[in-house]
Amino acid sequence: MAFELVIIGGGRMGSALCEGLLAASWCDREQLAIVEESLEQRAVLTRRFPDVEVLAALELDHVGSRTGAVLCVKPDHAEAAARETAIAGVTRLLSVVAGLSTARIEAAFPGPVAVVRSMPNTPVLVRKGVSAIAGGSHVIKDDLDWAEGILGAVGTVVRVTERNLDAVTGLSGSMPAYLYLVVESLIEAGVHQGLSREVSRQLVVGTFEGSAALLVATGESPQELRAQVTSPGGTTAAGIRMLEARAVRAAFLEAVAAAAERSRQLGR
Ligand SMILES: NC(=O)c1ccc[n+]([C@@H]2O[C@H](COP(=O)([O-])OP(=O)(O)OC[C@H]3O[C@@H](n4cnc5c(N)ncnc54)[C@H](OP(=O)(O)O)[C@@H]3O)[C@@H](O)[C@H]2O)c1
Repeated sequence: MAFELVIIGGGRMGSALCEGLLAASWCDREQLAIVEESLEQRAVLTRRFPDVEVLAALELDHVGSRTGAVLCVKPDHAEAAARETAIAGVTRLLSVVAGLSTARIEAAFPGPVAVVRSMPNTPVLVRKGVSAIAGGSHVIKDDLDWAEGILGAVGTVVRVTERNLDAVTGLSGSMPAYLYLVVESLIEAGVHQGLSREVSRQLVVGTFEGSAALLVATGESPQELRAQVTSPGGTTAAGIRMLEARAVRAAFLEAVAAAAERSRQLGR
């Protein structure tokens, strides 16, 4: 039978998407399939998604005129997987593969194919990701709407041009790691001030979650929210002055620039 959507690669990203799509009732469960090479992982997927078809390979009869595919394999397997998808007859594909251009995916297909490339980030695993999408040379608005619907099941989606995807990679793609480094450092700072590691962790992780919620709920700018906790000559002002003296702001500018440049290099 032909499916509405086939997820190629049932690892962390493919599984997270499957879970989000099922929770959002994006399509009927029987219309969704996961293609997974690893026998072991297929058993895991079958247990986790009992109503979803888990396939070892994509065959011609799995693909109809409306079948779309999501490419969720590691970058070094991606072009081979795209070729297999092309042979099966897929003509609309969303890729989450980091660093693989739409042109290289299009080249795996014998004819025109609508390729939407995306850059999600790890919070998609808890359906709170942010993904940017960009269309290839045969993409129309309907294809972008389709891709946004899929990634929208695991978070929010922004549309950019493909040349901006390296900047997105350096910013939101890597940002969870930047923030975890900040969290890690603050927990350590609490310990240095005599708090137990567990208490410090509770204070820092709780404040991290609460501050993000406040930013989203109030819609106020980060500058305004920061000013609200920075009394003139007070404790926070003393802490902020130290961070500015250590050029933390410049360090973030340079970190994002370095990550975006690395993304450009890897994509060449
Ligand atoms: N994880 C994230 O948060 C994140 C964020 C942004 C982008 N991405 C992108 O998402 C992609 C997938 O990442 P991941 O973390 O989900 O990887 P992963 O956990 O390794 O999952 C990939 C799965 O695909 C299978 N596979 C490989 N080739 C296949 C083929 N031709 N047909 C069917 N299945 C195949 C692999 O099986 P084997 O193990 O047997 O090879 C593996 O089980 C990557 O390209 C990455 O750049 C991930």
